[in-house]
Amino acid sequence: MNTKAWKESAPGVWRMEIGNPQGITPLSWMGVSPKTDAMRQLPQANPPFAWESIKLEQASDSLILSFPLNHTEKLYGTGLQLLRMNQRGRTRYLRVNSDPKQDTGETHAPVPFYVSDLGYGVWVDTSRIVTLHCGSTQKQEDTHSGEIRDRNTDSAWTATPVASRVEIRIPVEGADVYVLGGPTLSDVVSRYNLFCGGGTLPPKWGLGFWHRVPTLFNEEQVLEEANQFRLHDIPCDVIGLEPGWHSQSYPVTYEWEKTRFPEPERFVKSLEHSGFHVNLWEHPFVSPKSELYAKLQPLSGSHTVWGGLAPDFSLPEAERLYKKQHDEQHVSLGVSGYKLDECDGSELTNHSWMFPGHARFPSGMDGEQMRQIYGLMFQKMTSDLFRSKNRRTYGLVRASNAAASTMPYVLYSDLYDHKQFIRAICNSSFSGLLWTPEVRKAKSAEDWVRRMQTVCFSSLAMLNAWGDGTKPWSFPEVEGIVRHYIKLRMRLLPYLYSAFARYREQGIPPFRAMPFVMSPSEIAQAEAGGSEAGLQILNTTDAAYGKRRVREWDDQYMVGDALLVAPLTEGELEREVLLPPGMWYGLETGEPYSGGRVIRVQAGLESIPVFVKSGSIIPMMPDLPHVPPSGERVTLELVHFGTEPGEELLYDDDGETFDYEKGKCGWWKARVAQKPNGEYIGELIGPDEGLPSYDTVIWRFAQTRLESADS
Ligand code: GAL
Repeated sequence: MNTKAWKESAPGVWRMEIGNPQGITPLSWMGVSPKTDAMRQLPQANPPFAWESIKLEQASDSLILSFPLNHTEKLYGTGLQLLRMNQRGRTRYLRVNSDPKQDTGETHAPVPFYVSDLGYGVWVDTSRIVTLHCGSTQKQEDTHSGEIRDRNTDSAWTATPVASRVEIRIPVEGADVYVLGGPTLSDVVSRYNLFCGGGTLPPKWGLGFWHRVPTLFNEEQVLEEANQFRLHDIPCDVIGLEPGWHSQSYPVTYEWEKTRFPEPERFVKSLEHSGFHVNLWEHPFVSPKSELYAKLQPLSGSHTVWGGLAPDFSLPEAERLYKKQHDEQHVSLGVSGYKLDECDGSELTNHSWMFPGHARFPSGMDGEQMRQIYGLMFQKMTSDLFRSKNRRTYGLVRASNAAASTMPYVLYSDLYDHKQFIRAICNSSFSGLLWTPEVRKAKSAEDWVRRMQTVCFSSLAMLNAWGDGTKPWSFPEVEGIVRHYIKLRMRLLPYLYSAFARYREQGIPPFRAMPFVMSPSEIAQAEAGGSEAGLQILNTTDAAYGKRRVREWDDQYMVGDALLVAPLTEGELEREVLLPPGMWYGLETGEPYSGGRVIRVQAGLESIPVFVKSGSIIPMMPDLPHVPPSGERVTLELVHFGTEPGEELLYDDDGETFDYEKGKCGWWKARVAQKPNGEYIGELIGPDEGLPSYDTVIWRFAQTRLESADS
């Protein structure tokens, strides 16, 4: 077997080529260069095991690579998992799936990357399906197997004893495997993101509120719906069109339906005039009615979907044709981006919603490989198209894979469980992915408010009314609360934008799960000092650790460094929150809490528990109807919380182009100090040119709660 030794291919990232890897992989398709300077800034650490302890064995139809596991270690990542956060003890069958209802590992984004809470990560770069046995298998020589229990009599029996190794089933042709060093889990993920080119920085308007109108809406109806947002005083930056804008959908033409949109350019411009960007829904399967069909036919796969072609976009000519058509008919008219739907089918769950695994493509790829990276292909092609025009885009995609952190795309799902949607905010952060817990409809006003509160603290705040025709004011009794949170999102834009800039430059996800900010021992200590009431008791057949109380804290997350969000779902009025060490304040209640423990909080419908760290300085702006375009300056409010002095970095640029790559951007340091007489003073230090987006700066010192702009 052709195995070379592990070689350091970037600071803290070791690679080994196993077998004879061939063809397109996520990393090769992305064509990104590692951000080595930033990687060097991270603390360096070897993985906590000896290289010799990694084993490679040949199975009948695959290669099995295995890594040692410590007794208590937890494993996170493996893509957009909706059903659990700690993958220890589970087998993850990483196949793309549009309907991942079962806890098998199948997902919209099957990323074969896991990160351990001991501070290292493992990644297999392949376009094939990888199976990760995350401590779910035991060999005879397993060193952790210990005592065998009798299920008849012993309540501590478990189906999955604590295994001593992760076994990775790699396709027989082999793959490049990477080991990433820490020392902390957060360092590993930053390293992974930086190795893949850093995080994406959306245009500022992408961080405003989004609304997708019902399918089959025509121009007049869309314009009227957009206008209603202004009349209802609800900020909105993006209007998304659903299937009805194509002259045919399922399969699609990518051409405007002229009876509904007689003059697309005038339509796009008129929305632009009122501060809205237009996002277009599409999917990969090209209708015979499309002008592209004849040209793409020889460049497409052996099988069709709904009678539409499945183009092979690994062929440069297919990519060129797609981009040219999209440019001429959408992008050059002012369209701001896409929602790339239906690129995540898998033959067993979706039957005819995808080509089969045995489909052949002209480049030599088969259906399995193409399905695994189809979503990545569309993300890359469309974002390159916008980049070629020096315009940033931001959009939605339903399938992704590894090496996607530079992509300005946010995942979504048709599954609609609010708790799973919150967990996905946590889980996406381990794998270089972004996720929106989009709102569609609700069972009650309470459900509506809770979902709206969550989505306003996510990567993309969106109401997707394509099938239900809902509006933010659909439940009049809670319209005020919904308006309040959409406006709060707008006010937080400078803070969110800076968090994304850190994603781009340092690889730190803007929304991240608790293990990023608390070590295993800090979590254990906080749990030991806190209440036990909320701890889940895991089923013995299901738990890696037997019948023990385990709480994953997969229902709360950090936004940037200063805010901790702990959403509530319908039926809940209180919950437990794991608070990192230090002093914290309820962002809207002003209630002080000392951290390093588990607290119990109550929150009526009018509020979502959000905590702000003492000493933080939150940069904010006015709650305008939409994000101001490049060149328009507004007031910046710097809100300092608590009594401790503090510092915060604020990033700014034109918000729309890639000119930041030519140095047209900057970081400003906001600093709050206290004079001997107790008085606070603030200073904002940064590039001489001044902030591109803000003129006046207002300081607020020693706040314990955010003054509500709408109260
Ligand atoms: C679904 C998608 C929805 C909506 C719909 C339109 O697959 O998830 O958000 O776009 O297609 O047909």
